[in-house]
Amino acid sequence: MAETITIIDDRTGKQITVPITEGVFPSAALRELDPNLRMYDPAFLSTAACKSAITYLDGEEGILRYRGYPIEQLAEKSNFLEVAYLLLNGELPTDAESEKWTYDVIHHTMIHENMRKRFVDGFHYDAHPMGMFVSAIAALGTFYTDAKSIDETNSLAKQTLRLIAKTPTIAAMCYRFSMGLPFVAPDNSLDYSANFLNMMFRIGDDYRINPVLTKAMDLLFILHADHEQNCGTTTMRVVASAHADPYSAAAAAASALYGPLHGGANEAVVRMLQDIGTVDNVPGFIADVKAGKGRLQGFGHRVYKNYDPRATIIKKAAYEVFEVMGKSPLLDVALKLEDTALKDDYFVSRKLYPNVDFYSGLIYQALGFPVDMFTVLFAIPRTAGWLAHYAELLHDDDQKISRPRQWYTGVDARDYVAIAKR
Ligand code: ACO
Repeated sequence: MAETITIIDDRTGKQITVPITEGVFPSAALRELDPNLRMYDPAFLSTAACKSAITYLDGEEGILRYRGYPIEQLAEKSNFLEVAYLLLNGELPTDAESEKWTYDVIHHTMIHENMRKRFVDGFHYDAHPMGMFVSAIAALGTFYTDAKSIDETNSLAKQTLRLIAKTPTIAAMCYRFSMGLPFVAPDNSLDYSANFLNMMFRIGDDYRINPVLTKAMDLLFILHADHEQNCGTTTMRVVASAHADPYSAAAAAASALYGPLHGGANEAVVRMLQDIGTVDNVPGFIADVKAGKGRLQGFGHRVYKNYDPRATIIKKAAYEVFEVMGKSPLLDVALKLEDTALKDDYFVSRKLYPNVDFYSGLIYQALGFPVDMFTVLFAIPRTAGWLAHYAELLHDDDQKISRPRQWYTGVDARDYVAIAKR
């Protein structure tokens, strides 16, 4: 049978038949029926706004792949910088490519002294690290005269390298500022994740980074590196479509991520577990959720209607971190919550399963990060995904500046009323 769809405009009797390719049909064909016809699709629930070859996600089956590689294999065998290279270039690096990429990233981790002395030092003492991060990413672009030369391949590659290399430095700097601690400069002898932990936590000369914790940090970076057209990435693409520079676009994407419905959920999970307090309180909490008094944070997803594959990997990693750092008292509460919810028809019938945030907050906490830093930890690796989408959009001939249409619901034309007569 033909893979087509026929749409009839009952007002005029006109009809069009368009092909369906892999479940998608080109809605531009609707303009043939009536150029003023609009599709109303709030939050893009049924709209594919772009073609993308970066990340594949099947929410019904719980599948996530970067450039075709299953997330489980990347989590087990790869490392974050290799994954970033894969997202940006489409292929895993060869030995030589990997060596050059790693060297280049490590040698671009420094930031201009004025970023710290003049910019970051200007924040109020209790500024939220994510607010500082968003602003600092936008400000970073002002240090490079070639930031806007996005049509030149070499220049765009340079900005991409700078952003990936410098986001951990900026993140750590924001944290150290908020703690009143002196800034720790990047150390070129350390790998990406170890360098980040060192910039975050080094106090004095005897700080040693435990390789288990570095591995866990790197794993969390891999799992958060991309997730196709989520709110932040869509923001990145929309801003990129106006040909804004990648620093400004990444700052916009990070702002979207800052929202509690997006990158802020892991923070909400930890606060929820703290509120529940003990395993005994779990049944009562679940009953409250079912009665509509709040949500079970870290459960449910717009796309996953099955176990989020990242949640499975993170849960396993959590145990490895707890072996080193001691078990979080909140782990038992989380396990009991998960077990109770997965046996309860309310959650089962709505296909609500643990998402990436259910266990990630517990690991972040065990690694020593304050709750305020959780979204920043998400933004660091997601920068790689954002930049891959930025470049893909710029090179996509189907794309133009984003400009959705609206369904106007305001009042009709009327005459201006003088203030004395209102
Ligand atoms: N706890 C209890 N009930 C829930 C939950 C939850 N966590 N999530 C969804 N539901 C219920 C809704 O009440 C609704 O029930 P109804 O059909 O009886 O009205 C049904 O499940 C469908 O929920 P929607 O809100 O329509 O689903 P949507 O796709 O819009 O929401 C979301 C997805 C925002 C993630 C939601 O599941 C949620 O709020 N989860 C908790 C917050 C969270 O963990 N966010 C992280 C997402 S992952 C990320 O951004 C990295």
